[in-house]
Amino acid sequence: MSNAVKVAVRARPLSDREIKTDSKITLSMTSSTVRLHDPKGRASTGGAGPVVQGTKSFTYDYCYWSTQHHDCNFASQDKVFADLGTLLVENAVKGYNASAMAYGQTGSGKTYTMMGTEADPGLVPRLCQALFDHINANQDPKVSFRTEVSYMEIYNEHVGDLLAVSGKKIQHNLRVREDPRRGPYVQGLSSHVVSDQNAMLDRMAVGNAVRTTASTLMNDTSSRSHAIFTIKFTNACFSADRPQETTSRINLVDLAGSERAKATGATGTRLKEGSQINKSLVALGNVISALAHKSQTEAAGKSKKTFTPYRDSMLTWLLKDSLGGNSRTIMVATVSPAECNYSETLSTLRYASRAKDIVNKAVVNEDANVRLIRELRAEIARLKALLVASPNAALSPNGVVSQELAKNERLAEQLTQQWAGRWEEIRQLSQYVGERR
Ligand SMILES: Nc1ncnc2c1ncn2[C@@H]1O[C@H](COP(=O)(O)OP(=O)(O)O)[C@@H](O)[C@H]1O
Ligand SMILES: [Mg+2]
Repeated sequence: MSNAVKVAVRARPLSDREIKTDSKITLSMTSSTVRLHDPKGRASTGGAGPVVQGTKSFTYDYCYWSTQHHDCNFASQDKVFADLGTLLVENAVKGYNASAMAYGQTGSGKTYTMMGTEADPGLVPRLCQALFDHINANQDPKVSFRTEVSYMEIYNEHVGDLLAVSGKKIQHNLRVREDPRRGPYVQGLSSHVVSDQNAMLDRMAVGNAVRTTASTLMNDTSSRSHAIFTIKFTNACFSADRPQETTSRINLVDLAGSERAKATGATGTRLKEGSQINKSLVALGNVISALAHKSQTEAAGKSKKTFTPYRDSMLTWLLKDSLGGNSRTIMVATVSPAECNYSETLSTLRYASRAKDIVNKAVVNEDANVRLIRELRAEIARLKALLVASPNAALSPNGVVSQELAKNERLAEQLTQQWAGRWEEIRQLSQYVGERR
């Protein structure tokens, strides 16, 4: 997977309300193209690609037609996972940070795509399963893994921990800080070691139950908050006295829907929530535009400094790495295929089109001590080769090369032992947690 953000578009089935009001289907798709037909047949003014009168055409990395089961190109949860989930697992195993976020109008299928239903799980539960399938398939006793999860929501621009308290009302009072190396993070967010997929799925279910939901006219269990489920996946190996350790953070983001106050019938608290949701989604749009512009100017060989307004909302601030930073990111734009949602769908498709231009800077997250040990060992090998090539170097001046070699060997040995001790402790702790369940 390259560092460019991968963008997928998914169309859900017509809702009961859309069927009742006899709304026509206004979308069509191939595996990489979406065509949106203007119900009023207006001449096209936007979109990317060839334009037919009143039809806009867009291309994406993946297009999922989940509207009609009987269609030969129908995209099931399985299909979505086979493409996107597999990419996430591959990146996690290699030690890259990975993110997947669902964006779209309220009721367009974001939560369905990310979480799914008990009968037909979505991307997140399938990913939990796949990560542990990977862990359980490992036969090498020198390889070990550690998985931790945290789950937060952003509600009215405040951050709450979905896993902190069970059965109590969630407090949205966590502070966001910035670490020069890690970037923005939530202070005091609880993190939970999980030793099998059931433990991970249990945590996810606890968080989902706590998640603030409220009824609106458009979607009976509409999510009023942005939710970020994070899996920290560490992969370590200790072979021939050489430690290797990489960590991947997988951010799985279920955004609250974009709203039109009139269509959702919102008033009072619901209206306030809606305006905060819109504020952060506008900020997300601005960040996406700024990053797309930056990537385009860089690709054109111009290195103009551009400002990215991450700080405009809590959402964009916390997703700084997922957007334009150290992460391999997938965005799934979910849309309604119905004629009555034409303008919302068009706006989602345009949004998603812009996201395609973002290029991130993902790197393998290697443990700092492990990197140091690797560098020391390379230096030791270089000094040894130097001594073999010119044995006199050991003697002059004052045996500097031999001394340096001995010092590096001692340090490498010390760091390796420290690392192995720490890793063993962590391993035993995760096993203990596993046994206690
Ligand atoms: N691809 C899909 N296949 C079947 N049902 C879907 C699909 N996408 C959404 N739905 C249904 O549509 C409704 C709204 O979806 P939801 O995921 O809650 O929307 P959002 O999270 O975008 O507000 C739910 O009843 C959901 O089960
Ligand atoms: Mg939702």
